Amino acid sequence: MTNGSGSARVPATTTNAGAQVESDAHSLTVGPDGPVLLHDNHLIEKMAQFNRERVPERVVHAKGGGAYGHFRVTQDVSQFTCADVFQPKRRTRMLARFSSVAGEHGSPDTWRDPRGFALKFYTQHGNYDMVGNNTPVFFMRDPMKFQDFIRSQKRDPHTNLRSNDMQWDYWTLSPESAHQVTWLMGDRGLPRTWRNMDGFSSHTYMWVNAAGEKVWVKYHFRTDQGNEHLTDAEAERLAGSDADHYLRDLHDAIERRDAPSWTLSVQVMPFADAAGYRFNPFDLTKVWPHSDYPLIEVGRMTLDENPENYHIHIEQAAFEPSNLVPGVGPSPDKMLLGRMFSYPDAHRYRIGTNYHELPPNRAVVDLHSYAKDGSMRQSPARTGAVYAPNSYGGPAADRPQGPDPASWWAEAGELVHAAATLHAEDDDYGQAGSLVRNVLDDAGRERLVGNITGHLRKGVSGPVLARAFAYWRSVDQALGDAVAAQFGTQK
Ligand code: HEM
Repeated sequence: MTNGSGSARVPATTTNAGAQVESDAHSLTVGPDGPVLLHDNHLIEKMAQFNRERVPERVVHAKGGGAYGHFRVTQDVSQFTCADVFQPKRRTRMLARFSSVAGEHGSPDTWRDPRGFALKFYTQHGNYDMVGNNTPVFFMRDPMKFQDFIRSQKRDPHTNLRSNDMQWDYWTLSPESAHQVTWLMGDRGLPRTWRNMDGFSSHTYMWVNAAGEKVWVKYHFRTDQGNEHLTDAEAERLAGSDADHYLRDLHDAIERRDAPSWTLSVQVMPFADAAGYRFNPFDLTKVWPHSDYPLIEVGRMTLDENPENYHIHIEQAAFEPSNLVPGVGPSPDKMLLGRMFSYPDAHRYRIGTNYHELPPNRAVVDLHSYAKDGSMRQSPARTGAVYAPNSYGGPAADRPQGPDPASWWAEAGELVHAAATLHAEDDDYGQAGSLVRNVLDDAGRERLVGNITGHLRKGVSGPVLARAFAYWRSVDQALGDAVAAQFGTQK
């Protein structure tokens, strides 16, 4: 068989069932000019398959890209965790997906936004996922507010346009957003490439060692390529000239064997410190000062394998903060606990009940789960019986209850809808102000004023604008004054 263009020998086209077809170009008709026939199975299959090629895009983080690689432990942290993936010298295959938050699947990579930093480790104790961002904090501290927040960042239902007015309206009415918005409006809101940004767990997690001793940890994946950013002007130009700038950069770097890497360090807080710490260490709007809890190196992740098919390996990848393994547990961070429900639920809707069987989501260990059947199920439950307990050799649960912050919750008391108990230094603006005053240099502060002003100039209404000046004055008086001055107002 030769293809239409010349002499190369190619296989014969088949239907999805493997039968050879007669033509790639002409439908079956009654004579060359007659009507198309319904029993042209190949034509019907082509049309039907095409109509079903898309799965729903992720409700957030729709635009992204990723690669496979490995994580290698370089330091001994076994005193803190018994997790297989963090044991000395261990090398674990992994998948990473980077993304923007608010834009749709085809949106430009270089819109100002936090960037997703989602990792899946195929460990010998099951899949372990760390679904973080390129910022160490987030816009809120309670999962009840996430849906409202996201709607303020997405399109206005009346105009179907994104609205800076909605964004600033939400932020200025939610002062706990100040720290994250300061990161977002600064250089980190526009990384030069995915390779040039750090990744953070943002949440606090629990680590448990072989003796059952618990500590609290935060993860920092620091880019070995160096942090670099785009200016607003560069980002706008790229949004027009190369909307897939990040995707292309990662793909091309791996193709030319310039594999990007990140060094993982953790901050470790002794378990007993949490209750009396000066602010709530489980508040997702806060970082832990390195002076209190310095970074401890763990290992390095390297991405060196482009996925052979984007849809199969990246679009169908299902990351979930609930994928924890022995040695790692949740903390009482309310956001983290909310996310542990949300992601598996999103996957069942987006890619189906048996999403765990898709190639990027398959565990490398044998499954002995009693889960069975459902749409698109491929593997039988290998359990000997379909119920437990049974007397036919089916698996039986025998691991002690995994790490759970139970001792923390035991003292928590009645069921309430309430903010967390205040620690001495809990507040909304303090760490955002320190970021502006102590971390940024003069040039960084100047860019911050420029970025905020540029954003506020695009359609933000009078009352919201006035609240934005007050918001930034609460972060830092001089910063707020500088922003207000750009609008010729001292108020
Ligand atoms: C994606 C919910 C907070 C990072 C998603 C998705 C949902 C979701 C439903 C789409 C999942 C999919 O269809 O595959 C939530 C909820 C949150 C929350 C309910 C708060 C209560 C956060 C936070 C972070 C984060 C705090 C980072 C620290 C991500 C990332 C993705 C994502 C990186 C993309 C994962 C991927 O690449 O497939 N989130 N999210 N989210 N979220 Fe969240």
